Amino acid sequence: MLATNQSQLDWQPNHTPVMSNQVLEALSVKPCGNYIDGTIGLGGHTKAILEATNNKCTVLGIDRDPQVLEIAKKRLRQFGDSVILAQGNYTDIQSICNEHNFLQPDGLLLDLGISSFQLEKDGRGFSFLRDEYLDMRMNQSDSISAYEIINQTPEKELADIIWKYGEERQSRKIAKAIINHRPISTTRELATLVENTTHYKKSSKQKIHPATLTFQAIRIAVNDELEQLKKVLNLVHSLLEARSGKLAVISFHSLEDRIVKNHIRDNSSLKPRERWSLEEDTHPLWLQINKKVIRPSPQEISINPRSRSARLRVAQAIAIEEDMK
Ligand SMILES: C[S@@+](CC[C@H](N)C(=O)[O-])C[C@H]1O[C@@H](n2cnc3c(N)ncnc32)[C@H](O)[C@@H]1O
Repeated sequence: MLATNQSQLDWQPNHTPVMSNQVLEALSVKPCGNYIDGTIGLGGHTKAILEATNNKCTVLGIDRDPQVLEIAKKRLRQFGDSVILAQGNYTDIQSICNEHNFLQPDGLLLDLGISSFQLEKDGRGFSFLRDEYLDMRMNQSDSISAYEIINQTPEKELADIIWKYGEERQSRKIAKAIINHRPISTTRELATLVENTTHYKKSSKQKIHPATLTFQAIRIAVNDELEQLKKVLNLVHSLLEARSGKLAVISFHSLEDRIVKNHIRDNSSLKPRERWSLEEDTHPLWLQINKKVIRPSPQEISINPRSRSARLRVAQAIAIEEDMK
């Protein structure tokens, strides 16, 4: 684990978990239940789950970022043994559950992306609003940071990253400018370069910072976010099926949401189990709970503007009988 200094632990998050009530409902949270918070972050959703059951359920909280986990530990101290914390990647969810003897959970939450701590705290290199080393690693023990991606990736590959993970229409122009100005060491240098390269600055209609999509793309590449999301979605049915557990996923941009939506749609049926023909050779894994994506209410968005792009999708695992596997 990386050393976490006192000022990081003392950091007071201005943090409200997104769509907390909808998450509780989605997971059908109940006393004596066992839940996995696969992206525990600052523990906002875990706290809500524990409070909703009067601390009578257990939550296994996973996060890949050791610094975030230290803060969650402090914030959730009051719940004692009801919280089990594990540092690791959610793609290792099965081995983490085995290690903690956390078998047959009733529900799993994934609240994707980065936490407000990672975005706002000095030295993490996620934000174009600060001037610091281009890092963006959720786990600072990982070997590849944004610095390496920006300074070592060939132009075409860099343009592809910015296009694929940022859906940035000026990806080629931005990649060319990056190549011509390397080395680029800080978030401010990158943000200014993107701003000066694109025409966005001239448009008063532009609501987001010109570098938003480029930063999103680099962050996704550094942390391999989309591939890891696909991987975990393929793993969790077998974990949840024993108790017909619920899967709830909150995403913050269309790339993530599309992956979640397609995974559930491609592996589910809207019909109840009994109605499926036994002759069918493929058996649905998920019962799709909400066909339409769940969004935060206008009230929530006004109180917590960060929630405005959140999308929640929910599915319930269907048990597959042994002879059908
Ligand atoms: C949006 S925050 C979660 C906030 C949390 N729900 C709360 O209420 O405080 C997302 C968290 O997921 C973690 N994370 C992202 N990808 C991960 C992965 N592949 N494995 C484990 N944790 C991950 C990040 O480090 C971050 O702390």
